[in-house]
Amino acid sequence: MSFPYTEEMMESVKKVEATRAARMAAEPRRMTAEEKDALLEQYHPDYNLSSFAEIIVGPNKGEKAPKELVELLQAKSRVQGMTLDLAHPDYDVDVLVIGGGGSGASAAIEAHEAGANVMIVTKLRIGDANTMMAEGGIQAADKENDSPAQHYLDVMGGGHFANVPELVEKLVMDGPDCIKWLNDLGVLFDKDKDGNMITTHGGGTSRKRMHAAADYSGAEIMRVLRDEVQNRKIPVVDFTSAIEIIKDTEGKAAGAVLQNMETGEILIARAKCVIIATGGAGRLHYQGFPTSNHYGATADGLVLAYRAGARLLYQDTLQYHPTGVAFPSQIYGALVTEKVRSMGAQFVNVNGEAFMHPLETRDVAASGVIREVSRGNGVHTPLRDGIWLDSPMIDAIHGEGTLEKRLPGMLRMYLRYDIDMRKVPIVIYPTLHYQNGGVRVSVNGMSDVENLYVAGEAAGGVHGRNRLMGNSLLDVIVFGRNAGQEAGKQFKNVTLSDLTLEHVDNFEKECEAAGIHTDEVSPKILPDYRRKK
Ligand code: FUM
Repeated sequence: MSFPYTEEMMESVKKVEATRAARMAAEPRRMTAEEKDALLEQYHPDYNLSSFAEIIVGPNKGEKAPKELVELLQAKSRVQGMTLDLAHPDYDVDVLVIGGGGSGASAAIEAHEAGANVMIVTKLRIGDANTMMAEGGIQAADKENDSPAQHYLDVMGGGHFANVPELVEKLVMDGPDCIKWLNDLGVLFDKDKDGNMITTHGGGTSRKRMHAAADYSGAEIMRVLRDEVQNRKIPVVDFTSAIEIIKDTEGKAAGAVLQNMETGEILIARAKCVIIATGGAGRLHYQGFPTSNHYGATADGLVLAYRAGARLLYQDTLQYHPTGVAFPSQIYGALVTEKVRSMGAQFVNVNGEAFMHPLETRDVAASGVIREVSRGNGVHTPLRDGIWLDSPMIDAIHGEGTLEKRLPGMLRMYLRYDIDMRKVPIVIYPTLHYQNGGVRVSVNGMSDVENLYVAGEAAGGVHGRNRLMGNSLLDVIVFGRNAGQEAGKQFKNVTLSDLTLEHVDNFEKECEAAGIHTDEVSPKILPDYRRKK
């Protein structure tokens, strides 16, 4: 392979290089609150009303959500027409965890610690999840110049003060202990020569509280959680998807209908408590955006919980990560961690001009990139125009070798395509990264359905209408552990009555009565990339 930038791109690179020294010497300006509001309204995809539809059945009736999600929420159940023997389950456990990512594994570990007979079911394998793909780090206020109160203010500000305050309080108060828990389990966080954790800024943080393991933070955390699940001999049923929540005749969550992904076999799991930890929705490609998400991110948990009667919160707000790969096409939409900007790289347009502070909050930064490209100041590449991220600034600021040491994953990803980001800037454009909302939960992690807990990205409310970098890994650990601990107490008080799927029948009747006619079935389970006729 040879260096892939076109002559036109290289002409622009010369302009980026020519302005670098002056840009490094100047302090980038922060936008005012008014400027941010105007920018968001005009350019953030959440304001593109034509891509949303009204939900017409279920607990969120009358509210809007992305069209693709509305279709799935109101689609046919996969169990429709099946005769299921709910009285003779294949699995009978205290706590059933649906999802094998960071929150599912954390929940299972804590439920097991509390004495529950716990089982994980996952449609892929344990660890095949967004947690594994998280790069930049995990926030927690555990430094002397910081405090959970300071962290709280940052989270609330970043979320436009729409966050559920009690959930934010739990997030920030439990943060330091979660870092200790992970460190004690064996996570290899970056430390200085004296053994102190190295922390950096993220967009919208007032203190350096991003703990990282180079730019493989999620993979390192998931490695350790998976080991812990295996060491505890917690059973993991993999390649098996949950396709419906089962309730008992008193309306409590009581298990799930499972489907083996290879054989299609249907299995029944009875459980005294159920924890949904199924992650996000990037693979629904809202508004045609590429995604940084894992292959399994298809909003399954929202569909399962919704049909069981749980309310969603902020299902209409999505996060577009400002720096997805725009070039080369082979890795289009992949994540370029915010840590690249934490380490000093600036957004630069085709003319070599820095047009925005590199660490505005994500919604603002993504909108700023979209605006700059729509003004015709983007860098032309085959799939789409993008913006330069001036990555050579990192070594220029911190010294040669820094990028290789702190961002080895990024460096390797680009070197595979003969792009050395230490020497040339890279081209980015926003990529669908995160669902800010999800299933509404109370501070004990329970949804509106008794004994149905939801943790991690599938739950909504913690981040309000915009999440800050590093608060997802923290959310996954804090609320995964929390759901496991709560379910680990709760199951002891649960006596199940007969199992039923009547709620699914009732939901379908409601859809019919509302005049919904669809061939779509849900949960989606996997994205479909086959060429459509
Ligand atoms: O940019 C990143 O490394 C992403 C982090 C996050 O979404 O928290």
